[in-house]
Amino acid sequence: MRNLIPSYVRVPVIFFTIFGLIEYFVDSGDKPAFLEHPIIMLFLILVLFILIAIEGIVGSIENILFQSLDQTAKDKYLASKAKTPQFKALSNIYEKLKGKQKPIEEEHEIILDHNYDGIKELDNNLPPWWLWSFYISIVFAAIYLVRFHVIGTADLAAEELEKEYAQAKIEIEEYKKTAKNLVDVNTVTLLTDAADLKAGQTIFNANCIACHMADGGGGIGPNLTDKHWILGGGIKNVFHTISEGGRSGKGMISWKNDLKPIEMAQVASYVLSLQGTTPANPKEAEGDLWQPVGTEDQNSNDTKTENETIEVENTVTVID
Ligand code: HEC
Repeated sequence: MRNLIPSYVRVPVIFFTIFGLIEYFVDSGDKPAFLEHPIIMLFLILVLFILIAIEGIVGSIENILFQSLDQTAKDKYLASKAKTPQFKALSNIYEKLKGKQKPIEEEHEIILDHNYDGIKELDNNLPPWWLWSFYISIVFAAIYLVRFHVIGTADLAAEELEKEYAQAKIEIEEYKKTAKNLVDVNTVTLLTDAADLKAGQTIFNANCIACHMADGGGGIGPNLTDKHWILGGGIKNVFHTISEGGRSGKGMISWKNDLKPIEMAQVASYVLSLQGTTPANPKEAEGDLWQPVGTEDQNSNDTKTENETIEVENTVTVID
């Protein structure tokens, strides 16, 4: 057995088997284990070193034993060594795969008599591996054609893609539901949940009443209960104002570093829930009259309403 496989095959095979086993069993995350744990690298180098050393030692023992043999035994040993088939099985497979081709010396027997600008055709046997791949691809094509285009049990690539898109959209919606923090000025919607409004009120009382009063009546900041808005009404504009702040020098800072997106959505919704309430000391209305479209401002999918919304937005021209 030892003589069957030369050392330049044996050493790498054993080495990479050990390497593979380590990679399989050692949990090292994304990186290969030998990079993640330098000790493994050290171990592998050691393994390689020992393997080479073993080869060297066994080789020299063989050599010494050989020298101690008498002439007839030496001859016998050499003969047996020469006889050992090297890769017999492999070369058999190779021969089989190659098939029965005419050797170059006999090619003149199978050359066809047409001649294209000096290029001649040789009618040699095709190698079986090639021929079988060809047959298999024909069978494959037939099955594919019937399955995809005739009975249509399977989806074509484009349909598959569309389905995956649809599925992905559903998953994104699901994800957004659980990850409310993803809201931004484009996706924010008016929250009407009592819990959200309560949270909004808490945030408002903690951060905003110094300027807007607890009832939203206004002080340093404008009255938030009337229909007039300096920076635009509706959830998107209010969210934007809270997130980015008001006009510079007016005192309304940007809150996006202090409040999470969901918190800004909650406090914005709370602010809007104050619409129409009567504060104790209402500040005079400032800004333009904001006209909501439909049930809520920009959240309709209806094109007509959307156009109207854009008109309304234009008259307000606030977001800069
Ligand atoms: C330091 C005082 C101050 C604090 C604190 C403050 N605001 Fe304001 N707020 C203002 C001022 C001043 C304006 C007007 C900005 C302008 O004219 O550009 C304003 C404007 C606004 C507007 C827009 C009103 C409009 O008419 O367009 C909203 C909404 C608002 N604030 C919400 C909040 C919320 C919510 C908080 C708490 C997270 C808050 N503010 C905290 C002073 C403040």
